[in-house]
This record gives sequence, C-alpha cells and structure tokens, in this order.
Amino acid sequence: MLQETITKDQPLESWNDYVVPQCWESFTEEDHAVWDLLFARQVELLGTRVVSPFFDGIDLLRLSHPGVPELAELNAILEPRTGWRTVAVPGLVPDEIFFAMLSERVFPIGNFIRTREQLDYLEAPDCFHDLFGHIPMLAHHDFAEMAEHIGRLGLSAIAAGEGHRAARLYWHSVEFGLAREGGELKILGAGLASSFGESHFSLESEAVERMPFSAERAVNTPYRHDAFQPRYLVSRSLDETVAEVLGLTPEIMMEL
Ligand SMILES: [Fe+2]
Repeated sequence: MLQETITKDQPLESWNDYVVPQCWESFTEEDHAVWDLLFARQVELLGTRVVSPFFDGIDLLRLSHPGVPELAELNAILEPRTGWRTVAVPGLVPDEIFFAMLSERVFPIGNFIRTREQLDYLEAPDCFHDLFGHIPMLAHHDFAEMAEHIGRLGLSAIAAGEGHRAARLYWHSVEFGLAREGGELKILGAGLASSFGESHFSLESEAVERMPFSAERAVNTPYRHDAFQPRYLVSRSLDETVAEVLGLTPEIMMEL
C-alpha cells in the first residue's frame, strides 16, 4: 500500500536491495492453517462480487492449493503467462522502490502472514493481501500491462515531485477500484478483494460516495490508507480502467 506522502529527495536504490528469501519452509502449520482459513472465508464472502478475471487467475495460478503459496511455484506459472513475477519482501517498501518493481513486472509479497488473532486487522499488508488480492489479476494480460504502466508513471511522477498523482491513480484502480461487469457493480481492487470488512462495504454501503472512474478523477482524488475509503471510483468496465491508465503519459498525468 502506498502512503500519501512521497518524498523526492531520497536516492533511488535498487529494488533488489529490498528482496529477501521467502523462506517458505519457515511458515508453520499454524501459518498455513491461517492462510486456508482466510482463503476459504474470502472466497465465500466474495461470491460473484469480484470481476471474473480474478477467479480465473485464482484457478490458473492454483492459489486454492492448501497452505501459503510458494513463490517459486507461483512464478513458474505466472511469469510465462504475463511476464510478472513475485519476490518476497519483509514489509512495506518505499514508494519509489515499489513503482520501480512494478515497472519491471515484479510484485513484492510480504514474507509473513497475520495471526489468527488478527484475521480482520492488519497494520501492514501480509502475504494474504499481496497474494490473494493482487496476484490473480496479474495473470490477466491487459491488467498486467496496466500495472506495469503505473509503475513507470510512478517513477516519473516521483522524479517530478508529484508522486501523489501516481499514488492516487494506483490506489483508485489497483487497490480500491470498482468496475461494472455485465451491468453489475464488482470489486476490481486488491485492497477490497482481500478485505473481509471492506469488500461488502464498498459495494453495498449507502454511506460512501461512488463516482465514475476516469484517470483525471483518480489522479485528483485523495484517499485514506488508515480507514475504509470514503469514496470509490467506478469504471464502466475493467477495459475502461485499463484504457484510461494506458492513455496516460507522464506529461499528461502532470497536467490533469
Ligand atoms: Fe496492496
């Protein structure tokens, strides 16, 4: 997840500096049981409330296999398909590192999972959020291209001291976007797809705003990273979200 504040003065280190071994062997039986519990609960909760490529990705990547996924196994399917691959990181990475990873079709995965006592609350995204929420859509060719493009836009925006523009674009599409599919409102973003509380809230609450998605609106709409969103941007389709984002160049984004 991206914080709202992005500084431009930090030197851009290599994203490789943030990669750690997944150490899959060190996940305990309890860790795997927590994954299974979260997975079963979230699949049932989502039902048909998420765009259909999401569950296509779950199936394709065999994420329903019991236990915390092993990244090497996952990459063996994902990378030949869309060129994306996952790497393990110990926690949140700085925004410029995150965008640098995206720009090279690399997605960082927290190398830890929440405890049974924290099923619904997380201070930092864990591997359930990262893997269940994000990775299925990265098996979708158009979404995969969009996510890489956001990475490149993010690097340009940070270099120009305007990182918040790309952060907002990312937030209102990849993390908390909604999209229509077959006339119905569906979840698109990973932050919603992986959230027990906010998935239904985003679709059904009457206490939030839902506004039409556009790249311009996304870039100019602030967000919350510490609470449910007060507003969601709804695109007419997944394809519209992708087209809007891919239509941006760094120069266009800075002027929106
Ligand atoms: Fe995320």
